[in-house]
Amino acid sequence: MSFDLVLFGGTGDLCWRKLMPALFQAFRHGTLPSGARIIGVGRDDLSDERYRAQIQARFDAVELAKRPCNDEFDRFSALLEFVSMDLSRPEHYANLRDKLTQRQADTVVMYLATAPSLFTTIVEQLAAAGLNTPQTRVVLEKPLGHDLASNRAINHTVAQVFREDQIYRIDHYLGKPSVQNLFALRFGNALFEPLWRREHIANIQITIAEELGVEKRGAFYETTGALRDMVQNHALQLLCAIGMEPPINSHADAIRDEKLKVLRSLKPWAIESLAQDVIRGQYGAGNIAGLPVPGYRDEQGVSPASSTETFVALRTEIANWRWAGVPFYIRTGKRLAARDARIVVNFRPTPHAIFNAQIGQANRLVINLQPKDGLELHLLAQAQDKRQHSNSLAPVQLDLDFDKRFGAERVGAYERLLLDVIEGRLNLFVRSDEQEEAWRWVEPILAHWQADPQGPRPYAAGTWGPSATSAMIARDGFCWSEES
Ligand code: BG6
Repeated sequence: MSFDLVLFGGTGDLCWRKLMPALFQAFRHGTLPSGARIIGVGRDDLSDERYRAQIQARFDAVELAKRPCNDEFDRFSALLEFVSMDLSRPEHYANLRDKLTQRQADTVVMYLATAPSLFTTIVEQLAAAGLNTPQTRVVLEKPLGHDLASNRAINHTVAQVFREDQIYRIDHYLGKPSVQNLFALRFGNALFEPLWRREHIANIQITIAEELGVEKRGAFYETTGALRDMVQNHALQLLCAIGMEPPINSHADAIRDEKLKVLRSLKPWAIESLAQDVIRGQYGAGNIAGLPVPGYRDEQGVSPASSTETFVALRTEIANWRWAGVPFYIRTGKRLAARDARIVVNFRPTPHAIFNAQIGQANRLVINLQPKDGLELHLLAQAQDKRQHSNSLAPVQLDLDFDKRFGAERVGAYERLLLDVIEGRLNLFVRSDEQEEAWRWVEPILAHWQADPQGPRPYAAGTWGPSATSAMIARDGFCWSEES
């Protein structure tokens, strides 16, 4: 199969950090179709050779599981080409068209890895240049807009130019191995289904913690913040994967219908819940892995008086028969104590205790997303220590460690999703109505913050965020998983 991948934002951060390494891994795994062309688009005036050299230099700096040897990179780089474009100029799209019509590829993928403010222009210009052929698929990176209105405007324009089944709204968290495995766990086994409900689950905690700060993306992050960057998309998609009903089959729309229902069932915000159940924070100077790091306001591109949040913790509920009353806690932030993304499902304690047991870490299913991925089932077992009293219990852990079970070499999230686009599989992509619903739900939080002079609460880099986060969960009588 021949295909052309046109990468708008071909010299941008996402391209260097995620897309090119993912494409290279697919090449190395032998899954990138052989008749491929990868065409980077950017403003710079670069020759193909120069572009290839830039990518190689970046590859040398990134942590690939196995650095490419020259021969391997040479073979990969033969697929790379570069087109210099000013995205507002129609004649530049004509140049792109010339390049694409040099051969009629079976599939053309337009990957929009630019600022979302450019999406509308790019899509309109693609249409004007006749580049919206039936063989074309368009990939839209997040964030898709900065609020409901801008999200709708983008989706509306794109829908004028491409059919919904040509549109791939990417959320790379859906491509993470443990998230895919969550679908397998829930819908491939009958074991958990009877327990997966309010009668048996006390609370669910979704944590996406990063050690990194905003790096060189300060200017972008200033107008985005953690709510738009992580909660509106990644965290809510995880919540959907945990909370959705079993879909009627594995087709994309069956899955997306169920995720949409979860988003529609999220408890609406009230003034009191906005004040009590949503916490925003901003990192100050601190230590990460023993090294001092600056505070957010001292980062490049960030205002010294910035009120952008780098941390959000919130409590919500899914108001339906399965979940009514079960708190779902979401927590995400930059410069936290560890790089750690996981979902913790805390089951209810036994209704009557006959053992002397400290529950602690037991009665819990942990879905680890990163840095390691896999599952841990925490149970209580009879203590096997002869100094212990005969009916003492000890917490034990059953592990499905993906590294041990499947080997450390894994198909990464971007690699998986890029291959899905090339092969036309929409299951792990987000439909426009899901996105809109997610924006509708976060908008009251944004409005509340705008009117709230208090601003984000400070937290020191290298901690788990503002202390109010622990107080929020303690009000329900629970604690975060690392505190138990
Ligand atoms: C991106 C956000 O979507 O996800 C970044 O824009 C964040 O700010 C990144 O760092 C986290 O992804 P991962 O896969 O490294 O957890």
